Amino acid sequence: MAKQKYEIGMVGLGVMGRNLVLNIADHGFSASGYDKDLSKVQELQTEAGSRTINAAQSLKEFVSVLSTPRAIMMLVPAGQVVDTVIRELIPLLEKGDLIIDAGNSHFKDTDLRSKSLAEKGILYMGVGISGGEAGARHGPSLMPGGPKEIYERVKPIFEAIAAHVDGKPCVAYIGHGSAGHYVKMIHNGIEYGLMQLIAESYDVMKRGLGLSDEELSVVYSNWNEAELNAYLIEITSHIFRKVDERTGKQLIDVILDEAKQKGTGMWTSQDAMDLQVPTSVIDAAVVTRNLSVLKSEREAASKNLKVRMPRFKGDRDVIVNQLRGAIYISMIITYAQGMAQLRVASQVHDYNINLEDVTRIWRGGCIIRAAMLEDIQTAFHAQPNLPNLLNDVQLGQAVISKHNDLRAVVGLAVKLGLPIPGLMASLAYFDGYRSAWLPANLIQAQRDDFGAHTYERVDARGDFHTNWE
Ligand code: 6PG
Repeated sequence: MAKQKYEIGMVGLGVMGRNLVLNIADHGFSASGYDKDLSKVQELQTEAGSRTINAAQSLKEFVSVLSTPRAIMMLVPAGQVVDTVIRELIPLLEKGDLIIDAGNSHFKDTDLRSKSLAEKGILYMGVGISGGEAGARHGPSLMPGGPKEIYERVKPIFEAIAAHVDGKPCVAYIGHGSAGHYVKMIHNGIEYGLMQLIAESYDVMKRGLGLSDEELSVVYSNWNEAELNAYLIEITSHIFRKVDERTGKQLIDVILDEAKQKGTGMWTSQDAMDLQVPTSVIDAAVVTRNLSVLKSEREAASKNLKVRMPRFKGDRDVIVNQLRGAIYISMIITYAQGMAQLRVASQVHDYNINLEDVTRIWRGGCIIRAAMLEDIQTAFHAQPNLPNLLNDVQLGQAVISKHNDLRAVVGLAVKLGLPIPGLMASLAYFDGYRSAWLPANLIQAQRDDFGAHTYERVDARGDFHTNWE
């Protein structure tokens, strides 16, 4: 009898890899899994039950049981580990086999890897996957990039395992080369921005208004019921209810206030700078994580830089309601910044990304899924090349209708001495973007004054220089 062959392989059986294998097998596809750490192979074996899953004991066995041409996914930490796995796989593969990097690799690495593998006849795809452990197991959002004809090979599997919204899978072919990883990077940049905004609302309500964890949980749960419905808002409401098993306190209050990062948000900001696209909310989120890890410096500064700030006096409910509006429009602005960057990157890298598809596949399975993505998708449906979501009539009106909430919250936080860099950045972006005139004429004049960099005029074409002395 012919030996069983498996349709797809997975290298890396951490929580994401293992859960994806189980998800794949639950949808009727056979899969083989391998990890250097054989205890993880054993775990897969145990969980596999009667599913058509092979838990391979060696890379050689893993490769040999895959049907050809092979399709091998990798879910390993971004960076050198990816290159190591590729290096170990190459001698075992044949021309036409496909390697899929499903981790959070930097898009430039993906381009380099696909180029060098192409020279060996090995095909390569960079696929963004979002949704964490639960998403991997029950339906993630998938952002596949690479050669389109090659994507067709794995499309049935991807469509089956993805989250579904309105009966449609949260997966769409994104574009050639590193397009999939670029989109995942933008997803994560937006994720950083949204998380920062929510954290700021927590700070205003906790330190500013004095809400308890129970009250906070109720606020976020109410917010999640309507226009602010979003996965990150939902988990926030749960977080404030969680009790620490060790101490019996609310868990949130025994968690250290240092936000770590693997770097995808930072990459988004870095590339936005390269592209000269303003993404100030995302930048503020990255910078604020960096500030958060300076814990001992902050502790010292809290003593050295003591200033007396007033306490909040007023109606808490009014502020909570204003915060709701402020967070809503700041979230729209965060998506607007990320999508504006994606549009420019798509042109620069020739990705030809369909922005509507991207927002559609983010509506389910991923970390930044939110009800407002439906309006965002509608905006790109109407204008596929919309340069900025704030130019969409409906979204623009939504922001206009609540900009006073954002102003009120920023004003209050400034008065109370609470840091809200994300909210401030989003207000400044709104005011800057809607300004037909900005004081950049002065910057041009200064550059010309000190460095003869020339300037342009409003009344004549060309570059001008003045002797300013
Ligand atoms: C997702 C997440 C996932 C991961 C982040 C965390 O979409 O499922 O974005 O990819 O949780 O990489 O990123 P940081 O460690 O940088 O916060």
